[in-house]
Amino acid sequence: MRFYLTTPIYYVNSTPHIGHAYTTAIGDMLVRHQRQRGADAFYLTGVDEHATKVWRVAQEQGLEAQEYADRIAVPWRELPERINADIDFFIRTSDEGHKRFVREFLQRMYDNGDVYQDIYAGLYCVGCEAFKSEDELTPDGLCPEHLVPPEWIEEKNWFFRLSAYEDKLLEIYDERPDFVRPDFRFNEARSFIEGGLRDFSISRAGQPWGIPLPWDETQVAYVWADALVNYLSALTYAREGEDLRGRYWPAAHHLLGKEIVRFHCVYWPAMLLSAGYELPQFLFVHGHLLLDDKKISKSLGNIVEPLELIDVYGADAVRYWMARAVSFGHDGSASIDGIRERYENELANDLGNLLSRTTAMVAQYRAGALRRGEATSALDLSAVGAQIAELLDPPRFDVTRALDAAWEGVRTLNQYVTAEAPWQLAKDEANADRLDGVLYNLVDGLTGLAIALAPFLPETAPRILAALNQSDDLAWERVRTGVADEVDGIAAAEPLFPKIELPAPA
Ligand code: MSP
Repeated sequence: MRFYLTTPIYYVNSTPHIGHAYTTAIGDMLVRHQRQRGADAFYLTGVDEHATKVWRVAQEQGLEAQEYADRIAVPWRELPERINADIDFFIRTSDEGHKRFVREFLQRMYDNGDVYQDIYAGLYCVGCEAFKSEDELTPDGLCPEHLVPPEWIEEKNWFFRLSAYEDKLLEIYDERPDFVRPDFRFNEARSFIEGGLRDFSISRAGQPWGIPLPWDETQVAYVWADALVNYLSALTYAREGEDLRGRYWPAAHHLLGKEIVRFHCVYWPAMLLSAGYELPQFLFVHGHLLLDDKKISKSLGNIVEPLELIDVYGADAVRYWMARAVSFGHDGSASIDGIRERYENELANDLGNLLSRTTAMVAQYRAGALRRGEATSALDLSAVGAQIAELLDPPRFDVTRALDAAWEGVRTLNQYVTAEAPWQLAKDEANADRLDGVLYNLVDGLTGLAIALAPFLPETAPRILAALNQSDDLAWERVRTGVADEVDGIAAAEPLFPKIELPAPA
């Protein structure tokens, strides 16, 4: 089982924000889960450097573009670790390995007769790094996304014969109903193709910053013709002396935000066909996490940059909030206050208190010894596990509902504590076996749920297992009733999610 997952590579015209962390964190949940299931997985993220907007920022700062990119790449490289994402490679499009491969790739398209020279005369939005036609603009002639007028560009460029791939792409969309997910995005991409494809320019003449075309070194590759190729190029040099293409291509799954559907779902497959590569497994398009900025000052003291939520609440809490705040795949407005509410009510209370109470009871009533005993079971862990796995598998990638399902399990265990009232059972020695059983079921449920939750809460899950004196093995087959070992020495656990003092307002 091979599982190759990618995020978009992010533009380095400014530093990372919470939206970039969103894709990187959710991708990490999907990859961690597949690893638990035994998949040979590879997770790629990185940065997109050869954009006009990057070049312009460098100029504004009086720096060589490469020097600017080297400096700003630092916080980008730190982003995965900050949000606890376990990536396999971080690509920069200025890597020599990438540049070499892009030239080879474009040369293959050229050799295939799909590239020709023509004059481009039209509009370009630097914010989108995209050519625009009049009908894509607002009535006032602005880019609807960036609300600025696009620039007029007139230059001799190299064009890719995208129009030649219209029928082939429609055929693929017809044969592969899961090629793009969710289905409303599939329909969006398909209707765009059906509406007729226009050839697009894959080079820029007026900009020195970029990868020179192999057959015409006076021009550099258009940033998208360079950036999309990262999904393949990385596999050729991520591991020295190894070419991972045979291993991970076409096992590729691309995650992307809804604003870049056309590039990924239309241009990229056509470019792959032209260069003679197989197409990825599928592309999953997610919505935007829209933050209710008004509330930032109220709930966060002097924090103004949402990414700093990580420093206050920890990466696990931010990941948890991201996965639950908005249904993955859809747009949604998330409240920054939501993170505090979820931290206190769900993480600290539902989960944290459950662990504290459970361990405290085992310590107090059973001197820390866990024995199987005899009691009605608390939770069908195998059923919960099967449900989560189905939701997280491609093509669903439904991290939101998967986390809901795990949380249902947490709530069920809390109800079990109330219903079984171990503190009552502890009053009478005659109930000893049943008390053992109830406490075992709680520890067992928590053990299985910790394993199931590990992709979402990679720091917290091992702490739960350690507090319960259980193995740290996260293999998925361990999400089953009866997984907990009989152990001794369980002590009352430290709070998983301690109360947080917010930094004082400035
Ligand atoms: N460089 C291109 C992508 C090239 S991929 C071959 C690009 N970069 S970007 O910096 O603008 O990053 C866009 C991506 O960041 C989105 O597609 C999405 O994955 C993520 N997000 C940025 N803001 C976001 C939100 N507010 N919400 C969710 N995701 C967001 O486009």
